[in-house]
Amino acid sequence: MNTFNNNRRNFIKNAGALALGSTLPFSLVELAFGESDQNFTFAYISDAHIQHIEGTRFVRNWDRGLIRAVAETNLLIPKPDFVIFGGDLAQLGSKAELDHGAEILSALQGKVHHVMGEHDYYLDLGEYWEKLFGPQYHSFDHKGVHFIILNSIKTYDDWTFKRWPTNEQRMLEMAGLDNPNGSPFMVGEEQRKWLKNDLDKVNKNTPIVVFSHSPLQKIYKGWNFWTEDADQVQALLKPFKTVSVIYGHVHQIQYNQIGNISFNSVMATAWPWPYPQSYAQAEQYLPKLTVPMNRADPFFDRDATGWQFINVANGRVDLNFTLYDNNNRVVRYNTKKKHPEDSAYQSEDARIPPQTHY
Ligand SMILES: [Fe+2]
Ligand SMILES: [Fe+2]
Repeated sequence: MNTFNNNRRNFIKNAGALALGSTLPFSLVELAFGESDQNFTFAYISDAHIQHIEGTRFVRNWDRGLIRAVAETNLLIPKPDFVIFGGDLAQLGSKAELDHGAEILSALQGKVHHVMGEHDYYLDLGEYWEKLFGPQYHSFDHKGVHFIILNSIKTYDDWTFKRWPTNEQRMLEMAGLDNPNGSPFMVGEEQRKWLKNDLDKVNKNTPIVVFSHSPLQKIYKGWNFWTEDADQVQALLKPFKTVSVIYGHVHQIQYNQIGNISFNSVMATAWPWPYPQSYAQAEQYLPKLTVPMNRADPFFDRDATGWQFINVANGRVDLNFTLYDNNNRVVRYNTKKKHPEDSAYQSEDARIPPQTHY
């Protein structure tokens, strides 16, 4: 029995009621409110980065990550009520990449809600993406929860409209993780206005779950683990009793609590990014309560990709991460401490340091 299967068995044992065929890079979200008819699950797949080479050729490894996640999502029991795709479906926003990604995702059973990623956006500013997937931001209600999808990866108009000679150049500049020519992400005034109106209609006791691509908190500007107007968005969410923000983009496990808002990231199906604090020159604000994933072998790009269950009890989210070839992780909302924490790695002795960069 190899490590992968041992990990899988441990996870299923720990996960309790949910039985799975195998481990794959998607997230399953279970919402539990005490009454069984209100409980439900949804799945979360993110950051596929489908990359066109030429003709009908695409980068196979990224294709496989997404294909695997879709296949396993369809095998889930119980069936998820819907699926969230968390953004960065494409690598450079081309029709070929979006079409190919959409074709892979079309095998999913049930409704899919899409979040815009910067790799989907900066070629044509989301025009083709909208044709395939619908509006760039919207909200919906499901079994007592108010869900909101935001496009958090917009930026300053000057950068978007005046800086670059071609749309292709603009896309390439934003596609680089640490490119100093990039620009900070933001939700922007128009969407914040819409969000305020949308939230005005919602009871303050209704659990709110927000999906964004970039974190709606400021973690590390150099890699755009950052949303410039995060504080203003948080202020709009502040009057609500229970708020969760779930985001992609960072390709790693992060979590945080700011006031009433719990933040949780999901993993990518394509590759993992290193943690900002492992990068010695970086000034970063990754919350101290995040326990880094163990990247035992930085040259093995599958060791920190995976999928996660998210249980929501009384409107709070708990994330159960299964990594392809690494230790499983549970990030659970601690009702006494009132923030999410990694349940297995809180003691210093139990922690595994992140990889070092040379
Ligand atoms: Fe990404
Ligand atoms: Fe991204």
